[in-house]
Amino acid sequence: YGSVINPKTLTDYDALPRCLIAVTATGNIDWIVEDVVDSMVQETIAQHGLTDDTCVVTLKPGEFIMPGFIDTHTHAVQVPNLGIGGEFELLDWLNNYTFPTESRFESVDYAKRSYPDIVRRVINSGTTTCCYYGSLHLTATKVLADVVHEYGQRAFVGRCNMNWHGHSPDYYVEKDADESMENTVKIIDHIRSLPHSSAGEPLVHPILTPRFAMSCTPDLLVRLGEYAAEDQGLVIQTHISENKAEVEKTLELFKCDSYAGVYDRYKLLRHNTILGHGVHLTEHEMRLIHKRGAGVSHCPTSNFYLSSGMARVGMLLDHGVKVGLGTDVAGGYSPSILSAIQHASIASKMLAIQDPSGEKCSHGHHGHHGHGEHCQQGAAEHHEHGGHEHGGHGHGGHHNIGEFTNQKLSIATLLYLATLGGAELCCLKDRIGSFKEGKAFDALLVSIRDETGNPAIWGFNPGRDVDGHTSHEIPRDPLKEGLERFLFCGDDRNIRRVIVQGKVIGGQELKL
Ligand code: GUN
Ligand code: FE
Repeated sequence: YGSVINPKTLTDYDALPRCLIAVTATGNIDWIVEDVVDSMVQETIAQHGLTDDTCVVTLKPGEFIMPGFIDTHTHAVQVPNLGIGGEFELLDWLNNYTFPTESRFESVDYAKRSYPDIVRRVINSGTTTCCYYGSLHLTATKVLADVVHEYGQRAFVGRCNMNWHGHSPDYYVEKDADESMENTVKIIDHIRSLPHSSAGEPLVHPILTPRFAMSCTPDLLVRLGEYAAEDQGLVIQTHISENKAEVEKTLELFKCDSYAGVYDRYKLLRHNTILGHGVHLTEHEMRLIHKRGAGVSHCPTSNFYLSSGMARVGMLLDHGVKVGLGTDVAGGYSPSILSAIQHASIASKMLAIQDPSGEKCSHGHHGHHGHGEHCQQGAAEHHEHGGHEHGGHGHGGHHNIGEFTNQKLSIATLLYLATLGGAELCCLKDRIGSFKEGKAFDALLVSIRDETGNPAIWGFNPGRDVDGHTSHEIPRDPLKEGLERFLFCGDDRNIRRVIVQGKVIGGQELKL
């Protein structure tokens, strides 16, 4: 009982200061009453037929519950490289930093020593569902899946397919397509044999992981596509159009005119394919991805850190492409989706000033601009607000200017991408991403209270705020501001509890 943030759509979310959520013993949401006054809590519970021994958790001022973050693209195996290697771009970075580090997981002992701390850190960052890339090693990837399962996180765990000699180093490449397929079947079987959750469904899922086009020979891609065709429920993850040199090399190798076209050729582009990055996708590719029902994991921290560029998220959304957020550790230097949210915001602002074609002020979403404030335009000329139709465009392309193209992402949109958008991307929208009857209770208990020594505290100090307001201040929603402060100034110290399927699996309180 208390303050709840609940994402709804790409442009809207609920901030409910007196919300009551009932969770069953299996960890699913039984019912929600969105506005209950303090004095009516017990009665509301009784009305729903619950007994007196029902445990009621009452949030304190400055605390709120929100759905857990969904990281739709990260490499558990690269955590040892966090924060180093940012002087390179993708292909050199892979060769100089990434492949050497991943190859260490050939040692099962190293995997057993490393993965527990890695998964613990991801959980405590507030990620309740995570799409993990492991290494190419079968045993180490089994260890990763076992650790994730033991810790109770919801996840997808994939073993990398990478058999193309010459495009991966000799010390870190699979022998051939046969070996790659055999180990793929083995890891999928292993993960599917893990015990189910209290809700009677798997918490850890396998995920087909052809690392990226050029790491797999065409005959392996054919076999992976055939394997996937037999198993429509198997989710697929890979990288696409991250870096210009990578795109050029891929098109040349596969004699194809688009990167998305390569995956489509091998039947790997479908309703449950998660495409990492998508920085340099053309509109033609966006249309193809939309047609196939696949989606993009936006990894802005990594895209900045490896100088890859800025993905055109607004344009993807206007094309109807599903979008979630990814940390892409260690291309990204932070395991927290909070960083991805912050960088997604900044990237969208930079795109908005860089590209004048989408000129349109985003006053609508927040509605708390002061009078006389002007839209910041990148170009000298100032267009009328609200214009949707635009003619000629800098890229020479015919842009589908809609609600999001070249616009700053609002808090509602950022929240959506980090939760429901991610759920959509991994085809779990019926189970996670927001609070709704029948969905799993995967949540964060966030605190921005003063006395716990948390960052992002301003705005929830009753003593200060009583005389802190001046008559010039615009009336604001403290809960919405609390969320915004947490998203931009918060970190794992603010995340008191991390809850998956109704069970506390991490957070600051578990550490105490
Ligand atoms: N493309 C192929 N492999 C990788 C990887 O490990 N990280 C990133 N960011 N891009 C890739
Ligand atoms: Fe990646």
